Amino acid sequence: MSAKRRRPAAPRGSHGDTGWFTHDRFGLFIHWGLYALPARHEWVRHNEQITNEEYEKYFKHFDPDLYNPTLWAQTAARAGMKYFVVTTKHHEGFCLWDSKLTDYKALNTPAGRDVLTPMIKAFRRENLRVGLYHSLLDWHHPDYVIDPHFGPLRAHPDREKLNRGRRQKKYAEYLHGQVRELLTQFGPVDILWFDFSYPKPDGSGKGREDWQSEKLLRLVRRLQPKVILNDRLDLPDAWDVKTPEMIQPSEWMKVDGKPVVWEACQTFSNSWGYHRDEGSWRSTEELIRTLIDCVSKGGNLLLNVGPTGRGEFDERTMARLNGIGEWMKRHSRSIYGCTQAPEEFACPKNCALTYNPEKKRLYVHVLAWPYKHLLLEGRAYSERVEYAQLLNDASEIKTGADDWYVRQMGGVTGAVLLNLPLEKPNVAVPVVELFLK
Ligand code: GLC
Repeated sequence: MSAKRRRPAAPRGSHGDTGWFTHDRFGLFIHWGLYALPARHEWVRHNEQITNEEYEKYFKHFDPDLYNPTLWAQTAARAGMKYFVVTTKHHEGFCLWDSKLTDYKALNTPAGRDVLTPMIKAFRRENLRVGLYHSLLDWHHPDYVIDPHFGPLRAHPDREKLNRGRRQKKYAEYLHGQVRELLTQFGPVDILWFDFSYPKPDGSGKGREDWQSEKLLRLVRRLQPKVILNDRLDLPDAWDVKTPEMIQPSEWMKVDGKPVVWEACQTFSNSWGYHRDEGSWRSTEELIRTLIDCVSKGGNLLLNVGPTGRGEFDERTMARLNGIGEWMKRHSRSIYGCTQAPEEFACPKNCALTYNPEKKRLYVHVLAWPYKHLLLEGRAYSERVEYAQLLNDASEIKTGADDWYVRQMGGVTGAVLLNLPLEKPNVAVPVVELFLK
């Protein structure tokens, strides 16, 4: 045994306050940095192998003259979002706030100011909780060791030579110092979102050693014991939320067989940063379905926006956020405070169920409008449904267990039949609200 004093163990397990998080369900992700100017993906430096010197032109031209964080916050609030997570620094290394540890920040660009502080203030004013994304990777820092996997210099023939003198430990100190700034200068932070680790068996990737994750975790918990921490520090049992990205899990996410707190992050198209020419945008309706899908599996949705270099949400973004807001105005009851429905309620075809356990209400999201009738099969329905209405206008939906219809539809006796209007209500996804006994 070494005589050396052992450091206190880093706190394992989940410590963040996830109570509000699993209630609120819907947040806005913001990817904003210099990459908004090339406008062709936030990984543009990696994709096109752009050196620091070449990338400098974006630093010299970052001038978001139309940036109005109040508008951003109001747009998010109107869309029904309850929290936001913003890239304080992405892999490119550029910082939105006035970090004392670097010159590579918005303050030194034509923007001439810290753009993070007003954002946090604006979103708080709209009652949204605050989440800070911080990149573990840093393709700009002089001590960051260039690895063969990611970054503009990954394939450089003189990579080894370029790495001489670089000290990853020193980079880790910088990383910790910046995290200290983020957790001490902006009041209570609700979410801390690190991105990301890629350990490799041969040691060529990056993980907990490179970030000094254990130490970082201690720092985080000391400074903000309640902050919700995501799962990308390469510490398999010290996180509060699982964060699948660009995929929808097929069921409630589990770790060691137990359901966990999870949040899918999704973009409108195939880029997180502003991408001018990316055409594969999801429709408003698809995005609403994605939100429903998350909640129906006990999860959250963090939906991403990449603001432009002038500091705006572009019109494609606005159209979608406004559309989601229209739907949320009348349907947020099937989202907030809701989760996966109890197993005994079988999900009818082409539908998704969510459930509010406190209010004892079940929400049937009708994804394909049926021909007048929707059959809810099973005793749970016939024994517990007390009243049914369309959520958008609180118009009654007559429920019957008319055996003739039920038999016509091939259902079992005792099922509940919803008598829907012939015409689909004029909303993106209609919802039937069932009040349970
Ligand atoms: C990734 C990407 C990235 C994005 C993020 C969001 O790992 O590197 O650009 O910020 O995930 O989940």
